[in-house]
Amino acid sequence: MAKEDWKEFAIVRLATDFTRFDLLSSLTWPEVNGYFYSSGFGAFMIKSRIYLDNSATTRVDEPVLEAMVRFMREVYGNASSIHTFGQEARAAVEDARRAVADLVGADSREIVFTSGGTESDNTALWGVFRSGYRPGNHVITTRIEHPAILATCKALEYAGADITYIPVGSSGRVDPADVAAAITDRTILISVMHANNETGIIQPVREISAIARERGIVMHTDAVQSVGKIPVNVKELGVDLLSLSGHKIHAPKGIGVLYIRKGVKLVPFMTGGSHERKRRAGTENVPGIVGLGEAARLAMERLPEMTARVAALRDHLEANLRDRIAGVRDNGAPEYRLPNIANLSFEGIEGEAAVIAMDLEGVAVSTGSACASGSLEPSHVLVAMGLRPEVVQGSLRFSLCYHNTEAEIDAVAETMARVAERLRRLARRVYV
Ligand SMILES: Cc1ncc(COP(=O)(O)O)c(C=O)c1O
Repeated sequence: MAKEDWKEFAIVRLATDFTRFDLLSSLTWPEVNGYFYSSGFGAFMIKSRIYLDNSATTRVDEPVLEAMVRFMREVYGNASSIHTFGQEARAAVEDARRAVADLVGADSREIVFTSGGTESDNTALWGVFRSGYRPGNHVITTRIEHPAILATCKALEYAGADITYIPVGSSGRVDPADVAAAITDRTILISVMHANNETGIIQPVREISAIARERGIVMHTDAVQSVGKIPVNVKELGVDLLSLSGHKIHAPKGIGVLYIRKGVKLVPFMTGGSHERKRRAGTENVPGIVGLGEAARLAMERLPEMTARVAALRDHLEANLRDRIAGVRDNGAPEYRLPNIANLSFEGIEGEAAVIAMDLEGVAVSTGSACASGSLEPSHVLVAMGLRPEVVQGSLRFSLCYHNTEAEIDAVAETMARVAERLRRLARRVYV
């Protein structure tokens, strides 16, 4: 971490620690450094951290790691080579392809491995836009998409596309009627995420797909956050294209999938060799693919627990926070949420300050998406939901995974209560 970043962390630590409040105005780097380590805080951070930022990324699971290592150490052949090294790698890639296909109810020939959610989203949008499968240049998406979609839509606009961004209300859900009303004779693609990465709100993708199908329009969904958290079946959803990402389901970063329904023609985004049946050029990331296959199998096994035990833990966390802290509100309609996400606003608290203070107490949470945090821009998702600026600023995302325990959840609620009280006291001291 850069020196300035450490300093910032330490300042917030001090700001939440009133016995050292006097140090705030006169800090120099050596003092910060000294305070930080003399307080034993560095050691504490290493020992007992709790991770509730699983929507940003997840820990690679042990069985996933074990499965991958063999394909770096021993079976390191190129999956396109005809010798034994290559053919063993090929067999493992195809085995993983079947596992991922099973997870989303697809045929394995419809699964294309990519470098992650961002590439899958880019491939879907650019691939349809360039395909010319029907005349037109109009794309419909929503205001609450991940930047992998929103920035790609901006790039499409420069390339001549017309984009309609469907709004959402305070529930955080898109209304299918708004999508239907936006369709024109020139609409070629509808892209609506399955579940939002900041709020966890599940979108009515099945209803929107039905509208798209009736009008002969290609339908894409970014299911990066929903896969592995709730049942995701491409046929039930009725989508033509679906993006998913390995690192959200305990596989490594840098591996993902684009599901391409049989019969849908896309212009490849990556050009080069004829890998992935000429749909995505580039030597296959065999260890990553093997890891994703193993993670997909685990995700299938764990789905019942995800929708029951993890949802109960999330509800327990929320109830606990409400009991201990006044002025806590849900962002988005709770009945439509993924089981592992709680996006809450804390009255009178700055989300960024809370994230840093929590981190210094050994708890990782976030203010929204990892891509947005750090930029100090307010969350475009919460803004699109029409929330007041102070509610947006006071928002925190707690995102759980299969491995979190009740003891961890209790510790997080207790820590958050302490942090909230300190930050509120500090705010009174500074502003009153
Ligand atoms: C909804 C959504 N789409 C796309 C992505 C990008 O996926 P990746 O990090 O694999 O590129 C993310 C990652 O945070 C996401 O949450």
